[in-house]
Amino acid sequence: MCGIIGYVGTRSAVPILLEGLQKLEYRGYDSSGLGIIDLKKNRIVIRKRQGKINQLRDLIKRKALPNSSIGISHTRWATHGAPNRINAHPHFDHSKTFLVVHNGIIENYQQLKTNLEEAGVKFVSQTDTEVISHLIGFYYSQITSDGNNGLTNEAGGEIVSSLFEEAVRRAVADLEGSFAVGILCNDCPDSLIAARVGSPLIIGIGEGENFIASDVPAILDRTKKIIYLKDKEIAFLTKDKVKLSTFTGEDVSPKIETVKFSVDAVQKQGYAHFMLKEIHEQPDVLRRMFKERLKGGEVVLEGMELTLPQTINHIVIVACGTAYHAGLLGKYLIEGMARVPVTVDAASEFRYREPILTKNTMVIAISQSGETADTLAAVREAHAQGAKVVSVCNVVGSSLARESDGILYTHAGPEIGVASTKAYVAQIAMLYLLALKIGRENGQLKQAVYQDLIAALEKIPDAYEQILVKKSHIQKIARKNSHFGCFLYLGRNVNYPSALEGALKLKEISYIPAEGYAAGEMKHGPIALIDEYRAVVCITPQSDTYDKMISNMQEIRARRGKMIAIATEGDEVVQRHANHVIYIPKTKNILTPLLVALPFQLLAYYIAVALNCDVDQPRNLAKSVTVE
Ligand code: M6R
Repeated sequence: MCGIIGYVGTRSAVPILLEGLQKLEYRGYDSSGLGIIDLKKNRIVIRKRQGKINQLRDLIKRKALPNSSIGISHTRWATHGAPNRINAHPHFDHSKTFLVVHNGIIENYQQLKTNLEEAGVKFVSQTDTEVISHLIGFYYSQITSDGNNGLTNEAGGEIVSSLFEEAVRRAVADLEGSFAVGILCNDCPDSLIAARVGSPLIIGIGEGENFIASDVPAILDRTKKIIYLKDKEIAFLTKDKVKLSTFTGEDVSPKIETVKFSVDAVQKQGYAHFMLKEIHEQPDVLRRMFKERLKGGEVVLEGMELTLPQTINHIVIVACGTAYHAGLLGKYLIEGMARVPVTVDAASEFRYREPILTKNTMVIAISQSGETADTLAAVREAHAQGAKVVSVCNVVGSSLARESDGILYTHAGPEIGVASTKAYVAQIAMLYLLALKIGRENGQLKQAVYQDLIAALEKIPDAYEQILVKKSHIQKIARKNSHFGCFLYLGRNVNYPSALEGALKLKEISYIPAEGYAAGEMKHGPIALIDEYRAVVCITPQSDTYDKMISNMQEIRARRGKMIAIATEGDEVVQRHANHVIYIPKTKNILTPLLVALPFQLLAYYIAVALNCDVDQPRNLAKSVTVE
């Protein structure tokens, strides 16, 4: 969703801010803007634009900004008010002393706005953010009129900065909802303040310069030393200093961490799109995970600090979107291998449906970003009911990781494409490991089966390479089928979640309506869609339900539906039914979801490319959904 980058140092702020914003583009946005302090004229100057960052660049070329070494900037994904220039961030307070960029949602903004309007404040935008800047301005005037009037920066820089901090502290105390904010103060031109509740914010530590950002990629080429700001913390930054405190004023000693991944990880490295690059990274993601988690023929799940089998009699999986589909597969795997009942909930439903949890329930939260608002709310609900939470998460140090009792990092590396690919594959791979581990420890999974599955898992990365070698075949199929106005994805058993995820991938990036169904449900409704104008992707690997899938395919053919099958190498029967076949190498039935993921990702990718869609930043979507 929205992105923030702020800078204080000795270099020119504008190029640093623009480059940082560009690196946050993947999060999804519809307008952008920045503000700097003109140190010569002692005023804050802003530029903002609807549309892409290049349009903001053009505006800055036409209306040049004064040189400045301090500034804040933002990409906005509209929530309150249309995506236009006025609603774009940053936002001033009434006196133009303060400037604010904000990620998140202020839930009580209407009440705060009414109070401020009654006090004579005029609002210019429809955003919830504007209440933050006005509130800071309001408290600042209140504090300064309480006896600190007339302080200039030369006369009392220290005092002014503490007034700035105090005004922010009072303002954030009034806010309900989630927010990460960056704030400039014209009276305090060498400092910027950041604060957060719910929405992520990091501080980057440089040499004679410091940064704030909503996400690591924005500043990765500037510094690898990061402080993850915690909820209800305020950071006060100058070029040489970062001071942290809580909203209530207690000092916090900063924990500086070093980011492990390299700048290459957030660059396309010759691929046409991040999505394609991330699809190609999957064999290595899996190799790394198996190397780390499979040792001496055993599954090792360090990080999961819970005793599982003896106490746990029910597992609840919560997640959103693609991660939810991974969770649905998790149910098949855990119930199949460990015989523990599993319920899977969309996190957005779980948080409102009065779920029944006990101390013997284990909640598994799955999230790439670890910042998804609904998933975090579900975790808080689980904790409130006394359940333990283990998370499967990709982003180290994310809110989810911090709030969970146990954490299983997937270490897939930064995923920039909005459509999740390698993160999904890493999530399902981790769920295989988790199911194996629980099954082995509670005695439900026989040693020989356990060992066989581990051996088969270790072969999956090579199987990925074999499919990738034949990607041009998938590209051809995609080109031939990109004109279809509707796609149906059908799968059975462990590949029912694959059907859902395949359909989600296609619709996200190509905007073609696509539905995923359990193939057994076909006759209960979706068969009505089938004719020569729709395409059906049949996930038909060798399995116990193979014959049933073939029956489905016959029924589709009888209705002139066009079929693309994903089948096991060597299966010639399937060719008689499908118009196109994409083969995957043979593996154990239960592991096929790992392999079918790759063809359906490539199919969606090449269809979207054939349709000239913005693959990495599909319309309306955000990489991490940090608001409800
Ligand atoms: O960061 P998370 O895994 O919690 O995100 C959950 C969903 O928003 C995400 O998977 C979304 O569905 C993706 N765009 C799917 O490609």
